[in-house]
Amino acid sequence: MTPIFLVLLVAIDPIIAQKGGPPTILVRPQSQQVKAGGIASFYCTAEGAPAPQIHWRKNGKRVSQSQSRYLVQNYVNGALLRIEPVRPVRDNTVYECLAENGVGDAVSAEAQLRVYEAEKLPSGFPLISQAPPTKVVEVGHNAVLPCTAVGSPPPIVSWVRDMLPIDTTNPRYTVLDSGALQITASDVNDQGKYECVANNSVGTEYSKSAMFYVKVRRVAPTFSRPPPAVSEVMLGASLNLTCVAVGAPMPFVKWRKEPATDLTPETNIPIGRNVLMLTDVQESANYTCTAASDLGVIEATSTVKVQSLPSAPENVQVLDITATSVKLTWSYKGSNQLQYYVIQHKPKHVNQAFAEISGITTMYYHVQSLSPYTEYELYVIAVNSIGRGPPSAPVTVTTGETTESTNGGAIPGTAPRKVQARPLSSSTMVIQWDEPETPNGQVTGYKVYYTTDPNRPMASWKYQMVDNNQLTTLSDLTSHMIYTIRVQALTSVGPGPLSLPVQVKTQQGVPSQPEMLAAVNIGETKVTLQWSKPAHSAENIVSYELYWNDTYAQEKHHKRIPVTENYTLTGLYPNTLYYVWLAAKSQRGEGATTIPYPVRTKQYGKQTAKEPMEK
Ligand SMILES: *[C@@H]1O[C@H](CO)[C@@H](O)[C@H](O)[C@H]1NC(C)=O
Ligand SMILES: *[C@@H]1O[C@H](CO)[C@@H](O)[C@H](O)[C@H]1NC(C)=O
Ligand SMILES: *[C@@H]1O[C@H](CO)[C@@H](O)[C@H](O)[C@H]1NC(C)=O
Ligand SMILES: *[C@@H]1O[C@H](CO)[C@@H](O)[C@H](O)[C@H]1NC(C)=O
Ligand SMILES: *[C@@H]1O[C@H](CO)[C@@H](O)[C@H](O)[C@H]1NC(C)=O
Repeated sequence: MTPIFLVLLVAIDPIIAQKGGPPTILVRPQSQQVKAGGIASFYCTAEGAPAPQIHWRKNGKRVSQSQSRYLVQNYVNGALLRIEPVRPVRDNTVYECLAENGVGDAVSAEAQLRVYEAEKLPSGFPLISQAPPTKVVEVGHNAVLPCTAVGSPPPIVSWVRDMLPIDTTNPRYTVLDSGALQITASDVNDQGKYECVANNSVGTEYSKSAMFYVKVRRVAPTFSRPPPAVSEVMLGASLNLTCVAVGAPMPFVKWRKEPATDLTPETNIPIGRNVLMLTDVQESANYTCTAASDLGVIEATSTVKVQSLPSAPENVQVLDITATSVKLTWSYKGSNQLQYYVIQHKPKHVNQAFAEISGITTMYYHVQSLSPYTEYELYVIAVNSIGRGPPSAPVTVTTGETTESTNGGAIPGTAPRKVQARPLSSSTMVIQWDEPETPNGQVTGYKVYYTTDPNRPMASWKYQMVDNNQLTTLSDLTSHMIYTIRVQALTSVGPGPLSLPVQVKTQQGVPSQPEMLAAVNIGETKVTLQWSKPAHSAENIVSYELYWNDTYAQEKHHKRIPVTENYTLTGLYPNTLYYVWLAAKSQRGEGATTIPYPVRTKQYGKQTAKEPMEK
């Protein structure tokens, strides 16, 4: 009830001097006339240093609080004497307020109470015709407590709450002309027992008391927006954690860093919403938002994880190698929460993009669909919410050979490469090649076919078997003949495809066939050809012999051209298929020709922006 007393005090005397000294009476009790059975109240305030004690006396004797009809109540700097119900005769006397503080003399003030018998009320005595009823309002709402009094002269209505006068200097309280008390924006301190008091020069009358209740909606705090359970940030990043709580009354919202560091200053705790601003986050931590009202305390913890890219998986090992699959296992020592692993692989010596297997959540994986007998390079990469870490150290593994028992056999996938033939004498030549790009298994050997009549079926060609070597010599050949050579690789399962034919002439000192003949620029009436000189041309090449025919006029042409590696044929028919072939010539004679190279001239009017550089 302290706030009421403060209000009362301000109303009665705004300035209480704090100077030391004997007591002085500030508010003197008022003499009054009341009806027997009614109520009489005397108020008395005093100051002094120290603060005086205030007592009530009746007929020189102290009124103790134990007397049931006499109520004495102290308030700030004052004391109330309330008599209820007032009795005629015995209460009809003088009451004295006495203030003493041990400094100087005690001071006192007197008031006379006159009691009228109910049946002998003087005319004009105030009568309360409408007393306030019990009332309930919600906090913050307005209320009017009615009170109507009649009398002559017309009485003035005042109000008391819990027996003490209401401070009508407070703008929230207004006594209306009707006598009603209007309370605006009620708060809990307005709650109490109200009485209206009608007073005129004839007498004073109290209404029946009425309870005025101010109802507070009370809701325990809840989070309307709890902080996120987990936030992931990059090292050194900033983050705002927002925590919003509601309730009635609204809760205070604080942040704390676990285990026990308060982050919200006690002097300025936000209500309802608190945003924790974190900058330059260096380490993972838990932050707890606390929302508290007198109805309870709730907490929500938010974990802030500092993330960085994952480290590389380690200890990558290969197990269970088959012709088309390998099993990889690895370990990961980083602490960051991973999402998955990625495996990248490609054949080691092939210039192609890495194939990728993503979304692996185990620490092992069976990589499938590999080519048999191929050396692969594989990496494992760890991925978290920030992104991909660096690849592991590469592992290299050669897939197994296929056997008939596994998939019906795998023969070499491609032919031997870069087949070259060179005459050593008029009856001997050397054939040389590189292994196939896709051997599909352990190459067990090669079969070198040769013939002077390439139009005959392969089955009738001569051949020579070669073990585990990429070079062989053919002897006992017919001199001055052009031989055509084709080579194939063999595995335990069978032979692979044949290489393109190469031609060579059995004549010592003549060049081998030129290589890589191709058309590099094709027009309507001209074609630019390009080639490389024979790989083995210790012999001095003196010219090239260029041959071509056309399928339109069905003519065959021959032209000797100087030593070069390109030549442009002109005066051709448009949109016509030509065959072109070429031999190198030395002093000793003309070498073997290339195999005919087909090229079609372009149609008029069908120009493209740029000629494709195709072979
Ligand atoms: C009652 O009214 C009379 C006359 O107006 C006045 O002298 C007296 O102080 C009033 N008493 C109270 C308790 O207000
Ligand atoms: C955090 O909030 C402050 C103030 O609203 C804002 O300036 C800042 O950019 C926010 N930081 C982040 C990381 O969102
Ligand atoms: C945060 O709290 C969780 C759960 O209690 C705990 O496992 C984790 O270690 C804490 N993190 C930090 C950085 O303290
Ligand atoms: C042109 O040469 C190719 C290759 O030697 C041959 O197949 C074709 O029959 C020849 N065409 C004519 C018309 O000579
Ligand atoms: C053609 O060959 C000559 C000499 O061999 C060379 O200088 C020239 O650049 C070549 N031209 C083209 C288009 O390749």
